[in-house]
Amino acid sequence: MNHAPALPPRRLSIAPMLDWTDRHYRYFARLITRHTWLYTEMVTTGALLHGDLERHLRFDEAEHPLALQLGGSEPAELARCAKLAQEWGYDEVNLNVGCPSERVQKGAFGACLMAEPQLVSDCVKAMRDAVAIEITVKHRIGIDQIDSYDYVREFVDQVAEAGCRTFIVHARNAILKGLSPKENREIPPLKYDYVYRLKRERPDLEILINGGVKTNDEIARHLQHVDGVMVGREAYHNPWLMAEWDALFYGDPAAAATREEVVRAMLPYVAARLAEGNNVRHVARHILGLFQGVPGARNWRRMLSDAKLLDGADERLLTAAMEATLRTRDARD
Ligand SMILES: Cc1cc2nc3c(=O)[nH]c(=O)nc-3n(C[C@H](O)[C@H](O)[C@H](O)COP(=O)(O)O)c2cc1C
Repeated sequence: MNHAPALPPRRLSIAPMLDWTDRHYRYFARLITRHTWLYTEMVTTGALLHGDLERHLRFDEAEHPLALQLGGSEPAELARCAKLAQEWGYDEVNLNVGCPSERVQKGAFGACLMAEPQLVSDCVKAMRDAVAIEITVKHRIGIDQIDSYDYVREFVDQVAEAGCRTFIVHARNAILKGLSPKENREIPPLKYDYVYRLKRERPDLEILINGGVKTNDEIARHLQHVDGVMVGREAYHNPWLMAEWDALFYGDPAAAATREEVVRAMLPYVAARLAEGNNVRHVARHILGLFQGVPGARNWRRMLSDAKLLDGADERLLTAAMEATLRTRDARD
C-alpha cells in the first residue's frame, strides 16, 4: 500500500467525524478536492486490537493524504495501533484529545486527557518510537471552567516535548459534565485568538485551527494567522464549499470538477461497493448535500433518502436523481 510521494501540507483538512467521515464520504470528498488532508472517524484502540481490522482500516488509495484518528490513552496499545496504521498505509496518526462524550470519558481518553498532558506526552512518544509516519494531536483549548490561555500553551509545550509537531486546536473548551457532545460543539465560545497566539508564540509548531468555520473567506482569514484550517460540519453538509479549495489554497486550479462530473465519478465506486455487499444507502447518505444551493436540490435529497427508492437500488439511482435535479435547475434558468 504505497502512497503518493509528495504529501501536501495540511493547509486544509476535513475533521474526523464519527459516523460521517467514513470511507464512502472520504472517497466522495476526494473527488471534489485533491489536496485537502482527510481524517478517518475516531477508532478506539480497543476496537482495533480486538475487532475487525478490515472494517476499521480499509480505504481506497485515492483517499491519500489520509490520517487515522485514534482514541485511547494506553501508550503501548496506541503504539500497536500506530504500527497497524503505518502497515495499512496511512500518512498520519492523530490522537483524539477533544471528544467529550461520556462513553469516551469512561474509557479515560478524549477531552479528559487535556488534564493529563504528561500521559498524552507518553502516548505520543510511544507512537513516535513505533512508527515513522507523523503523530499529531487534536485537542481543545481547555476543559470545564478553565479559561486561561496558559492552560493550552502549557499542554502543547509538554506534548511537543515528546516530539509532536502538529496540533489541531478545536478553539473552544470541552465541558465534561452536563453538555452532550453536540452541545459541546456549539455552546462553549470559540476563542480563535488563543490559537493565533499559540502560533505566534510557538512558530516552529504546525498549528491548525478548527471550529465553526463555514466560508472560504473565513478560511483565508484564519490562514493569515495559522498553518491550516480544519473544517468539519460545513464540509459535510455543504461539500461543494470544497470545490474551490485546491485553486484557492493549494494553487492548483486544474482540480475543480463540476457536480455532474463528481456524480459520474461516483458511479463506478458505488457499483464496486454494491458488488462487495454494501447498499446504495451507505454511500447515498453522505452525498445529500452535493447540490445544496442549486435549484432542484430537493429532488436530489429526496430521491437519495427515499427508503422505497433505495431499496434494492443500484448506482443508477444517482444518475436518475441528478437528472431530476438538473431538469429543475435548467427549467429555472
Ligand atoms: C457527527 C460528528 C462526529 C464527530 N466525531 C469526532 C471524532 O470522531 N473525533 C474528533 O476528534 N472529533 C469529532 N467531531 C468534532 C469535529 O472533528 C470538529 O472538531 C467539530 O465538529 C468542530 O468543527 P466544525 O465546527 O468545523 O464542525 C465530530 C463532530 C461531528 C459533528
